[in-house]
Amino acid sequence: MIDEIERYFYDFERELATVCTRDDLNRIKGKYIGKKSGLHLFLERLKTLPLEERRIFGRRINEVKAAIEHLLREKEEVLSEGKHGEEIDISLPGRKHPLGSFHPIRFVMDEIIAIFRSLGFRVEEGPEIETEFYNFEALNIPPDHPARDAQDSFYLGRGYLLRTHTSPAQIRVMEKLKPPFKVIVPGKCYRRDAFDATHSPMFHQVEGLVVAPGITMGDLKGTIEVFVRRLFGEDRKVRFRPSYFPFTEPSAEVDISCGVCQGEGCPSCGRKGWLEIMGAGLVHPQVFCNAGYDPEKVQGFAFGMGVERITMLRFGIPDIRLFFENDVYFLERFKSLR
Ligand code: PHE
Repeated sequence: MIDEIERYFYDFERELATVCTRDDLNRIKGKYIGKKSGLHLFLERLKTLPLEERRIFGRRINEVKAAIEHLLREKEEVLSEGKHGEEIDISLPGRKHPLGSFHPIRFVMDEIIAIFRSLGFRVEEGPEIETEFYNFEALNIPPDHPARDAQDSFYLGRGYLLRTHTSPAQIRVMEKLKPPFKVIVPGKCYRRDAFDATHSPMFHQVEGLVVAPGITMGDLKGTIEVFVRRLFGEDRKVRFRPSYFPFTEPSAEVDISCGVCQGEGCPSCGRKGWLEIMGAGLVHPQVFCNAGYDPEKVQGFAFGMGVERITMLRFGIPDIRLFFENDVYFLERFKSLR
């Protein structure tokens, strides 16, 4: 009989371990210490035993009963730790709430937009499917210009193409607004480039256009310097290099001092000490004419920057393809930017 009692206790403990709800608990309470329980049968059988055995078995039965009651109470406490009146399944694993993060391009784009907004620029958009007129002609880009080659642009037929830069939005903005104004146009651009470490057939630009009477190269330089220092840090130097674009005159390319070597020259800037971040210049008089403005009455400056390139410089990302592979390990590096 003593074996049977130990077995009984053992079975109880095993069943108790599987209890997750109050209903389960009540069920095994009835089964192990209720009126019709095995424990009750042991007590019945006790009466038929000789006095000596009755004492030994009786003591063990009472110990087991007390232990079962104690364990039931303990379990009841665990179960009632849930919300009042609510039954909880404590065997369920906790729920994970993985948080996403901004894509680095989105993050830097938003930073660029915030800086220009604080300088009084408004944000406009232009269509990704453009006409050859807005993408080239109105910007003074001649028909034989290499950028118009079918090898370089995605032509859609009937005079349409995917815009190769955000500059066509300059014309659309001038048609829509009355000067003076300051706008930026963020958006996607497309070029038939091979997909390699520094080229992607789709990429992002932020275009800027300021039109008002008397705008000079000094306004352009001051604006860009403030922008660069805010985005990259106060210690960065800015340099304007003479360049050529058909839609600006004079034209410049804007370089910032290398953040790794502070302009000394190192492997990450190709030993130049400088990194190119955008094209810019004063709006060409012909472009004003094409948009129906009188170049004698208003002047302006424009700039266009590549967001992928700026993001790569900002975070030291070596390959543009990383932005488009959606590798979770890469994207998770930017979680802290939330
Ligand atoms: N659209 C030019 C490019 O894609 C950049 C630019 C914009 C240059 C505005 C001057 C003024 O390279």
